[in-house]
Amino acid sequence: MHKVYADYAATSKHKPPEVWEAMEHYLKEIGTSPGRGGYSLGLEADRIIFSARQKITRLFNGDKQNNVFFSLNVTHALNSVLKGFLKKGDHVVTSSMEHNAVARPLKALEDSGIIELTMVQCTKEGLLPQDEFEKAIRPDTRMIVITHASNVTGTIMPVKEVGEIAASKGIFYVVDCAQTAGVLPIDSKEIKADVLAFTGHKGLLGPQGTGGCYLSERAVQEIFTTVHGGTGSKSDLLTHPDFMPDKFESGTPNTMGIAGLNAALDWILRRGVHDIRAHEEKLTRLFLKGLQELSDKVIIYGPQDAAQQTSTVSINMEGYDAGEVSFILDRIYGIMTRSGLHCAPCAHQTIESFPEGTLRFSFGIFSTAEEVEYILDSLGDILAQK
Ligand code: ALA
Repeated sequence: MHKVYADYAATSKHKPPEVWEAMEHYLKEIGTSPGRGGYSLGLEADRIIFSARQKITRLFNGDKQNNVFFSLNVTHALNSVLKGFLKKGDHVVTSSMEHNAVARPLKALEDSGIIELTMVQCTKEGLLPQDEFEKAIRPDTRMIVITHASNVTGTIMPVKEVGEIAASKGIFYVVDCAQTAGVLPIDSKEIKADVLAFTGHKGLLGPQGTGGCYLSERAVQEIFTTVHGGTGSKSDLLTHPDFMPDKFESGTPNTMGIAGLNAALDWILRRGVHDIRAHEEKLTRLFLKGLQELSDKVIIYGPQDAAQQTSTVSINMEGYDAGEVSFILDRIYGIMTRSGLHCAPCAHQTIESFPEGTLRFSFGIFSTAEEVEYILDSLGDILAQK
């Protein structure tokens, strides 16, 4: 049976071999804590983290590698930012296409009476209506948070245009790049974001348990530390250091994971994000065309335009349950997909697939045109058999 992985929006199952080689090298040959010991093997661990910080900075066309902080994943990174920045009485504008990594911390802040929240309704395709978005901004709006691309429909948000609006009004601007880091070109100067939050295990091709943020100078100054602890620096003081990256990095980091991420970043920077995007866009175009030709029973969500979305495509098939099709694809055809609500209930309400959800396919740099054709044939087979 074929084994086809089509769930890159969840995690990149396939990695360049350099990733696990670097992790094995760290475990076997290094194994020390960074920033904690003066011995030379400890400095090797420091070098790995330093190198990964440099590469994230390069990837986002940033200037200061110390403005990168690492965390467990993008959810932790976003929580640190949202809870460390927002204060009582602040108004926040976000979109209705957000993942729960943004929507839940914001809702929790709203429920505890700290912030007021406006969630701007996107179109059925998941597109952000820029006029409506601008109208939602109030004099007391202190933060804008949006996803760079939806994890349900792949819809790419106008992050540059929103960045212009935020900058013109002096509003703190957070972009959730969970679905786009390593997949779409991201230029911190062009987007003008105060925070670019990333995860290491999706488009960045690193291991799970890695993520973080690239911060603007304003973000460095204005976000408070919410996780206090040991940093290996200023150990004589009970006050947490206020300098980067220690300000947001407490406790021993996932050095093994960051070693893998560091190797993955090398691979991505060598290959080039433009090349990765071109490959994924080509596969998405092929898949969308195939779906459109397959049957009028197939409902395709999102922009249905490879140029306006990532390689994530959500569908439903009339008369079929998405979970059931996902199960059949796995057990009979060896195709791995994700069905349901994808931790993004508001996005599903927006595209009118709530509460049932959708069947989601997502491709990566290691996906092939043959795999896309096989998925289309398998869906055709399922439709023919009912
Ligand atoms: N947020 C990830 C997904 O969409 C886990 O599958």
